Amino acid sequence: MNMDAPEHTCFRRALGGRFSPKRVTRLAETIEQIVDDRLDAMERSQKPLDLQSVFSLPVALGTICHVLGIHVRPEWNSILDVMELDPPLEEDLLADYQQFLAAMTEEVSSLREAPHEGVLSFLLHDVGMTDEEVAGAGQFMVVAGHHTTSNMITLGTLVLQRDRRHWDAIAHGPDALPNMIEELIRYITVLQLAPFTRTATADVTIGDVLVRAGERVQVSSPAANRDPEVFERPDEFDPERDPTGHLTFGDGVHQCLGQHLARLELRIAFTRLVERFPDLRPAVPIDELEVNPGTYPGHGVHALPVAWGADDEGSTA
Ligand code: HEM
Repeated sequence: MNMDAPEHTCFRRALGGRFSPKRVTRLAETIEQIVDDRLDAMERSQKPLDLQSVFSLPVALGTICHVLGIHVRPEWNSILDVMELDPPLEEDLLADYQQFLAAMTEEVSSLREAPHEGVLSFLLHDVGMTDEEVAGAGQFMVVAGHHTTSNMITLGTLVLQRDRRHWDAIAHGPDALPNMIEELIRYITVLQLAPFTRTATADVTIGDVLVRAGERVQVSSPAANRDPEVFERPDEFDPERDPTGHLTFGDGVHQCLGQHLARLELRIAFTRLVERFPDLRPAVPIDELEVNPGTYPGHGVHALPVAWGADDEGSTA
């Protein structure tokens, strides 16, 4: 994300085809399997359970690790905490971060020995990148593809349940789901400030503001996505609106590489969650949920306790 041409162009060209809508569609069956495994785990768990840690995080981690062609390491589910400060300053977080880097280097070394059909092996063996470049790309994509999508699943569930007609509509009108998901993506704006910091490489005038070469500019995607000149009643979640033009995935040459994958994950996650647990509901009042601190760029809650069925229904955990 912080690279310029020609290095950035090289990565983007190499990876573009692997994340195209057509290519991503082929992943549907695998993602369905990952989602169903987690739904089974939910069924076996004690209620209430935390949707974020039992469902959303493992679905997103399992998917990105499958795409990259590396092992799923459940400890990476806490990468959120590790990445909260970049570079992480606290000693234990620093140790976790270093372990994450070391594990990725290990994954890449084994792919060097034994090629695989995943994206990292493709970068090593077909594109000819160095181990270090591939480990860097792998690390970035695990983080980029993991906390974003998982927070979207959890926060999306909350938004859809605030007015249960939206939740129920998924079961009754699956054709409306893609637009509903796009509106969730606009409304939640899960990545807030950090990705949009840019340094001007030449003088440029934006509107009536001159930005000089070397100056840093930060764009607020939540403000753009709630701009009343672009979206009518922007603070309302309206699954009927056309949310085209939102900036949640950025814009220009760095626009999110994984956006089609994210949309597919969200579609499968919501469809299957509603099918399996039509009466899923938050188990605590929404205003008691703890949100991520402001230092962290991802909008999300630490945990979302949920329940379903009768309150006294036993569990098999
Ligand atoms: C809802 C989920 C996601 C959101 C909201 C999101 C958002 C973003 C944003 C805002 C950017 C920066 C765009 C810019 O600078 O203009 C970005 C870049 C990126 N995202 Fe995502 N992302 C999501 C899911 C994913 C997934 C699943 C992957 C999987 C690989 C991914 C991979 C990337 C990569 C590689 C970049 C850097 C692209 C570049 O610099 O050329 N993202 N994403």
